[in-house]
Amino acid sequence: MHIKKTLLPHHARKSLPENPITLPFGRHFTDHMFAMEYRDDAGGWNSGEIKPHQPLQLDPAANILHYCQQVFEGQKAYRSPQGKILLFRPQEHARRFNQSLRRLCMPEVPEECYLKAQRELLEVEEQWVPQTHGAALYIRPTVIGTEGALGVRSSAAYLFYIILSPVGAYFANGLQPISLWVSDSYSRAAAGGTGEAKTGGNYAASMLGGKIAKEHGCDQVLWLDAGTHRYVEEGGSMNIFMVIDDKLVTPALSGTILPGITRKSVLELAADEFGIECQERQIAIDEVIEGIKNGRITEMFCTGTAAVIVPIGTLCYKGARYELPTAAIPDAPTIPTAPPTSTLTQKLYDYLTGLQYGSIVDNRGWVVPCAAL
Ligand code: COI
Repeated sequence: MHIKKTLLPHHARKSLPENPITLPFGRHFTDHMFAMEYRDDAGGWNSGEIKPHQPLQLDPAANILHYCQQVFEGQKAYRSPQGKILLFRPQEHARRFNQSLRRLCMPEVPEECYLKAQRELLEVEEQWVPQTHGAALYIRPTVIGTEGALGVRSSAAYLFYIILSPVGAYFANGLQPISLWVSDSYSRAAAGGTGEAKTGGNYAASMLGGKIAKEHGCDQVLWLDAGTHRYVEEGGSMNIFMVIDDKLVTPALSGTILPGITRKSVLELAADEFGIECQERQIAIDEVIEGIKNGRITEMFCTGTAAVIVPIGTLCYKGARYELPTAAIPDAPTIPTAPPTSTLTQKLYDYLTGLQYGSIVDNRGWVVPCAAL
């Protein structure tokens, strides 16, 4: 596949952000994007183009605007101390992208196209990958149904595009502990639905719960299962973990939970690097509340590509507040040089970001230089 490039002259490009660590998440974009079209009647995907970041032109009847065939990924490009651009488990993201596409009845993007498009776009936008530890260039690959047709069926045309956004911390308060409001009425996803796919509809379904959480003075929702409202599923738009009796416990992937790549990495690092027993199982909200009250739960945190690892400090459930002894992760994390000694949350954060930014040697093949994609 040969990717055509239509690039802006250098004098027409934006200036780089001075302090990317302070940028609000996903509000600034680089100069260029990648776009590639699919048509049933043209034999599938064309070969794609890198062109100036620009608005999309869509038929007002486009499938995405009515029936929401949409899938996305979230990845980051990191700058190593030697100045190299690194990606974290990019093939895993490509695989999950295709799993989501299959679930939404959309055409898959061949893994090599997905990776090549990313590499070539990042090469064009190389200078946008921040130098600062803690900041990164967020990568948002997306596919939307573009056919203009109001009959309810799979679109016959799609657009795959990638946009890039320099980002600092996901939450305005950096890595301060967040508060979660436990929703026992709204659900994010139901069994048999699209909960394990990374599709915009899941996030749309979560907005009202999120609004109510804010009205209760909380940052995000702790989602319970849709069937019984008894079991913990996710925290906001992230996976959720807790340390119970010194074991790291997270809800088992049940079909309604996003199979997070940070989630998977955290489980492996906790076991291999810190010798922690990990459990993936059902966790009843009653067990969580009881565990906070009697001190058996010592830490809770959420994970995701955007936020990495964010500590949970408070749960609000049935009108009561439950406080955890969780400490903040320092706002401007230093590059770890010695084994950390603090909470598991902090240790995992330091280790994971150390790998991602290339200051800790990766023996697992997780960290891939952009040039090797
Ligand atoms: C991530 O953690 O990367 C997410 O998917 C959250 C995102 C929707 C901003």
